[in-house]
Amino acid sequence: MANDKREAKVRKMIDDDLERVNEIDDLLFGEKRVRTWPFSFKTYWDIYGPGVNFVAEVGGKVVGFLAGNILAQERSQSILDLMHTIGRTSRYPKIGWIDMMGILPEFQNRQIGRLLVDAFQKECQRHGAPMRAIIRGDDAGLANFLVKSGFRKWETTVYEKD
Ligand SMILES: CC(C)(COP(=O)(O)OP(=O)(O)OC[C@H]1O[C@@H](n2cnc3c(N)ncnc32)[C@H](O)[C@@H]1OP(=O)(O)O)[C@@H](O)C(=O)NCCC(=O)NCCS
Repeated sequence: MANDKREAKVRKMIDDDLERVNEIDDLLFGEKRVRTWPFSFKTYWDIYGPGVNFVAEVGGKVVGFLAGNILAQERSQSILDLMHTIGRTSRYPKIGWIDMMGILPEFQNRQIGRLLVDAFQKECQRHGAPMRAIIRGDDAGLANFLVKSGFRKWETTVYEKD
């Protein structure tokens, strides 16, 4: 399978994919998982249900997934989006949030993550929405993937106190 050079195809995730997506996610869970997502896809799905989700297949077998949502901008986050600032994505009424991604280890670094992001972007464009992902500051792997996929990093940092 590691030498499987067949082209990857991306399509919308359907309910029948859930078992396989959970399997991939379980496999990724552990020390090598991107630091941003310390919870399982199953937990994510149980809480949020279906959103705008895609899977990537190689030779008819699902090898990766992207789970996201296209949602209206929240005014509670307006400090992140100062509405008067020209050129910021705040001009858009909706945002496409990438929530989770996972590619089977033997299929990583084959541009499959990028294909999934491209498919999500097309859907976002239909809604006039830019894409965003919130990741942990120490998640170098995911940060590199996003930057290489054309995402810009914001300088805004969130502080919290109980
Ligand atoms: C992060 C993840 C979604 C990226 O998907 P992918 O299919 O492997 O990434 P792609 O092949 O589409 O990579 C696109 C670009 O990002 C770069 N990239 C991907 N993952 C990277 C990483 N961890 N560190 C640095 N660069 C990375 C690739 O080199 C490629 O760059 P290029 O345009 O110069 O060729 C995927 O690796 C994954 O599911 N990881 C989960 C497992 C995990 O946590 N691994 C730990 C290391 S982060």
